[in-house]
Amino acid sequence: MSSPFLRYDASNMWSKRIGSAGVAESAFERLLPRLEKAKNHLEQLRTSGKQGFFDLPFEKKMTQTIEQIAREVQKSFSYLIVIGIGGSDLGARTLYQSLHTNKQNQHHLCVDFVNNPDPDSLGNLLDRSSDEWKKTAIHVVSKSGSTLETMANFLVLRERLIRAVGVKKHAAHIFVTTDIGQGSLFELATEHGYFILPHPKHVGGRFAVLSSVGLFSAACAGIPICRILNGAKSIEKTYAKEGIEHDSACFAGLHYLAYAKKHQHIHVLMPYIDRLSMFTFWYRQLWAESLGKKYTIGPTPVAALGAIDQHSQIQLYQDGPMDKVITFIRCEKNTRCISIPKTFRTHAHIGYLAGRELGDILRAEQEGTAEALANDGRPNGTLFIPSLSPESLGALFQFYEHATVYLAELFGVNAFDQPGVEAGKKEIRKRLGEKK
Ligand code: PA5
Repeated sequence: MSSPFLRYDASNMWSKRIGSAGVAESAFERLLPRLEKAKNHLEQLRTSGKQGFFDLPFEKKMTQTIEQIAREVQKSFSYLIVIGIGGSDLGARTLYQSLHTNKQNQHHLCVDFVNNPDPDSLGNLLDRSSDEWKKTAIHVVSKSGSTLETMANFLVLRERLIRAVGVKKHAAHIFVTTDIGQGSLFELATEHGYFILPHPKHVGGRFAVLSSVGLFSAACAGIPICRILNGAKSIEKTYAKEGIEHDSACFAGLHYLAYAKKHQHIHVLMPYIDRLSMFTFWYRQLWAESLGKKYTIGPTPVAALGAIDQHSQIQLYQDGPMDKVITFIRCEKNTRCISIPKTFRTHAHIGYLAGRELGDILRAEQEGTAEALANDGRPNGTLFIPSLSPESLGALFQFYEHATVYLAELFGVNAFDQPGVEAGKKEIRKRLGEKK
């Protein structure tokens, strides 16, 4: 039984379909005891409370607080600027890109995201009029509360806000998500009276999208966050019944064998849905930071987009080295139904397009690409969602987080740390003259 919002078709991953580059059923069977061991360890992490991401979809109190504060924010402001980077940025951006619509009512905030301390990007926000700044709220997100890019951007924008509204009133514009009790951001928030939506305990940045990290800006933009969580819950509920037979565990097992036995070290994610392009960047971080460990281990995640990358990357995927696994995402139904006019139905070369729906064209392109790759012995799988909805996006997030931690268990690495990132952060701060 799959989640009603997400289903994985692995047919083109198996050797019986694509030949020697595919995974043999016997190899997968031999992996089952290791998957079972992974499951037990993950269950331990969940029940001991050491890892909290599994349970985020069920955090009722957190959701109610986010919704209530978002409603307040909507009453007072028109714009929201979200400041964060990495796991404190990509999930929130994905939610906004995928689910925000222009048709929303006047209370729904228009959201901008700031991650890089690039003066040319930040300049556009600084140039906004003081009247606009009076209607602007800021959500600053940093688990550690000390990330230099986030703090640099925050300090600049905070100053601009103060110029527009005055120091006395500025605190009412600022909302903070950070670890309670530690870090510079927590100190500033406490000192100046900024509203704190706590970063969930025992949840790392890249696993935190379904907390205030991602959900607060979504709720401010009018996105129904309960529906996102319902989609994520559907993954948890089906997983609770199926254990290692769940699609996410199967997905992890197949990717592990592809990597370890077939040297397919490049894992491409290629939705055929424009509004999931940011999701591929979220995936890229999740895969890279969780699995790239111990100097030797780590599949390289690649973000692609169909059909655009058929005209850019597919030559390499179809004809280049046999070192890739490709996962497609397709939706069964689009929100809009747009057909091609029948004006040129008798035309020799474009007549076949007459009357066709654009969504059906994309689906045919995805199917054809998957089939051509499989015919050439190239492993690929497809994640099906009924439509791009809050539920299916919630399910996709939870599915990938599950698959990632399973894969980390199989690789024997810790999915939840990022020593490489920390090492870089330390060196950079040294160069910028941080006092010890
Ligand atoms: O996933 C992670 O842990 C990282 O990508 C962090 O999210 C990123 O480095 C930002 O850290 P912080 O939230 O502490 O500002």
